[in-house]
Amino acid sequence: MKAKIKADKAKIISKIDERIYSSFLEHLGRAVYGGIYEPEHETADDMGFRQDVLNTVKELNPPLIRYPGGNFVSGYNWEDTVGDKAKRPRRMELAWFSVETNQVGLDEFQEWARRAGSQVMMAVNLGTRGPAEAGNVVEYCNSRTDTYYANMRRENGFEEPFGIHTWCLGNEMDGPWQIGHKTAYEYARTACEAAKIMKWTDPTIELVACGSSNSGMPTFGEWEETVLRECYEHVDYISLHNYYGNRENNTPDYLGCSLEMGRFIETVAAICDKIKGEKKGDKDIYLSFDEWNVWFHSNEADEKIEKWQVAPPLLEDIYNLEDALVVGCLLNTLINHSDRVKIACLAQLVNVIAPIMTVNGGDLWLQTTFYPYLYAARFGRGTALDAEVECDTYAGSKEAAIPYVDCSVVYSKERGEVVLFVVNRHLTEAIEVALELKGFWAEQVLEHKVLNHTDLKAVNSPKAPRNVTPYDGEAAVDSVTLEPHSYHMIRIKVKSE
Ligand code: AHR
Repeated sequence: MKAKIKADKAKIISKIDERIYSSFLEHLGRAVYGGIYEPEHETADDMGFRQDVLNTVKELNPPLIRYPGGNFVSGYNWEDTVGDKAKRPRRMELAWFSVETNQVGLDEFQEWARRAGSQVMMAVNLGTRGPAEAGNVVEYCNSRTDTYYANMRRENGFEEPFGIHTWCLGNEMDGPWQIGHKTAYEYARTACEAAKIMKWTDPTIELVACGSSNSGMPTFGEWEETVLRECYEHVDYISLHNYYGNRENNTPDYLGCSLEMGRFIETVAAICDKIKGEKKGDKDIYLSFDEWNVWFHSNEADEKIEKWQVAPPLLEDIYNLEDALVVGCLLNTLINHSDRVKIACLAQLVNVIAPIMTVNGGDLWLQTTFYPYLYAARFGRGTALDAEVECDTYAGSKEAAIPYVDCSVVYSKERGEVVLFVVNRHLTEAIEVALELKGFWAEQVLEHKVLNHTDLKAVNSPKAPRNVTPYDGEAAVDSVTLEPHSYHMIRIKVKSE
């Protein structure tokens, strides 16, 4: 089969906001305890953080890490998590029915993020708590005033404010599973008042309002309209969440799920513009896709996990090759919508539906999905080009025409390279792709990495951590052959024409 990818230096989608390569760490399962924090581990640093994990996170270099949830945030008392560790309460944690020891809290996490070279994207509790507490935590984190919460931070050993810039106004408040679930109007009013107090406390922050928990929610659309009608003046982003999975074991369908992600983004962007029009506003509301990933493998196992444990192994999906191909396509979709999506968080980062896995007391290992995320996060920084892909399509059960070739193209003027991220969705045929780069002199292929395996269900594991691992490909500046069901990252050295 033959295909063509045409990219033109003059046809630009947008400068990419690097924060689309952000991630997420929730107090859930072994993400924090046994993930980033394990004081007895041989690599633990002075604060008990695993340095093997920290160094791997640094490789991914996520600009933001959303924290502390997720569903967890809707029962979160941030005051429990700061100051003297010996005095912190153990709590029944009602989002995941676990015990929260609070041995890692806001103070420690912001220090961990600093050590990782990332910024914290902090969520406030609008489930069991409200606008006042949201303002207080902003004061604790960001204020230099001689006032109660800023002084509490100083007493806890942090003279300098943490300077957290991006804040989420709650989490998935449209979902009946959420602690303190609200109707759209109830949430909209609470979020609006919280936003005012938070911005009065620190006018430099930016705020993300909760959108729908996924595009299949019965209130999707209406929820976004109601929230933005109340909050437009006070917020900067609206969130999108979605998880994908091959529940029916229909791989062709599954590989096409990124088309749905694209429509979801376009629909929410259209709603933002509609409300901007209604308000006669001059501000665009941007999108924060702050939870996205594959999540379905662990669903059954999770039902059998005993309640009220500390750090139980929850949501430990083990990802195979086809999941990595899907993650590659989802990343392409985010890059190809980078005119509207300014923040996106791979959910999550360590152990919980994560690219990085740890064995308690043992080694770290990398999932298949680590690699497309690594390559996009490392080389997908620059300008997204509006590439044209000429290829055959196939029909799925929900999609009329799924292109066999999925791709995004990023030009980095700084590095003098064009980077292509390409997935061949064809399960049995190789595709010979002609590459046409207009407006550039393509000099040489700097790097071509391929992720593939004879078995689509192949996974990595502690015993076989490199079973599915990238290898070098043989792309030329004007052509590449994509083996069936394969992921590719191709860096081409270019000069501008
Ligand atoms: O990431 C796991 C969970 O998925 C989050 O806690 C929640 O926001 C979403 O439903």
